[in-house]
Amino acid sequence: LFSGFSSSAARNVVIKSVTIIGGGQMGAGIAQVAASTGHSVTLVDTSDDILKKSIETIEGSLRRVVKKKFADKPEAGEEFIRNVMQKVLTSADAASAVRGSDLVVEAIAENLKVKQDLFRRLDKLAPPHTIFASNTSSLSISDIASSTNRPDKFGGLHFFNPVAMMKLVEVIGTPATSQETSESLMNFSKVLGKTPVSSKDTSGFIVNRLLVPCIVEAIRMYERGDASKEDIDIAMKLGAGHPMGPIELADYIGLDTVKSIMEGEAKDPDNPLFASSDLLNKLVAEGKVGRKTAEGFYKYK
Ligand code: CAA
Ligand code: NAD
Repeated sequence: LFSGFSSSAARNVVIKSVTIIGGGQMGAGIAQVAASTGHSVTLVDTSDDILKKSIETIEGSLRRVVKKKFADKPEAGEEFIRNVMQKVLTSADAASAVRGSDLVVEAIAENLKVKQDLFRRLDKLAPPHTIFASNTSSLSISDIASSTNRPDKFGGLHFFNPVAMMKLVEVIGTPATSQETSESLMNFSKVLGKTPVSSKDTSGFIVNRLLVPCIVEAIRMYERGDASKEDIDIAMKLGAGHPMGPIELADYIGLDTVKSIMEGEAKDPDNPLFASSDLLNKLVAEGKVGRKTAEGFYKYK
């Protein structure tokens, strides 16, 4: 058993160079954490304007981290920020970005076809050893991986928002994911300073399967008029010790993402916990998807 483990460990891909596709709230956070732990990062999005905002987000978040980590040494903090920022390159061309990459982490729109199209294209361009991972909240990793010819080198790497603060990563293996790939993703998560847990490729994985029913029931409770949204949030913060109330958290995650997770779960007809909410659907249709658009259930300046 021991020699089996060591030989598979020897075959693990040591991840040094990472391409992150999608520079939104999650992709920017993943890029920040990967660069902060010494990886060479290329962050890809569809335009230079979006990437400029991603870089500003990373720098803003690093400043918050440094304020605590280097509280007594502001100069060392500035140097840390400079070093990390130097490790993040940006590109609007995913094709060239993946050529020298050990790992590609996808954090683009939560849409199966869009994710499959991206990976189908990248599969032809990335070196054979490159591991592909999706940060999807709700889609099946097997379904996304089916667009590639490397299902053994494909897994889920599910981060939590805000990535700089949340210590968990869910590592999702499909029946086709090799042990080497799973081990490489577990090791990578540890090198990032996170605690990885493994989950099968089941809808919602671990956290969302348990968290989203709570969020959705809170939205329905508000919709029914059982309590105000403010009181629901106060109640769960002070009565259950949650850092954010469920409605506030829905805005923080993004109502579009919450809706996608619910719809993924709703495919299971035995699960009434994920029945849809008219109010949530209305807000998403109006483009009021939470903090990232400055309005959701609450307004943000
Ligand atoms: N980057 C860096 N540091 C940050 C940060 C960020 N984006 N956000 C917060 N911090 C740190 C800062 O040090 C901050 O202090 P400053 O304001 O002085 O910079 C400190 O945290 C405290 O922040 P706040 O005062 O704004 O608020 P808080 O004490 O409530 O902490 C929080 C913020 C860590 C986000 C906390 O509210 C929390 O843990 N909320 C729950 C988040 C959660 O449940 N996330 C998971 C969502 S589910 C998911 O992600 C999966 C999915 O698929 C949808
Ligand atoms: P977001 O809307 O903030 O960012 C998505 C980014 O992807 C945008 O900048 C967009 O321009 C870019 N993009 C879209 N299509 C692209 C393409 N083909 N190529 C390159 N870039 C493209 O979304 P987000 O909240 O960062 O979520 C991203 C992914 O992470 C989703 O799959 C979501 O389900 C998942 N996720 C979200 C959270 C959360 O709390 N928001 C937590 C864990 C996982």
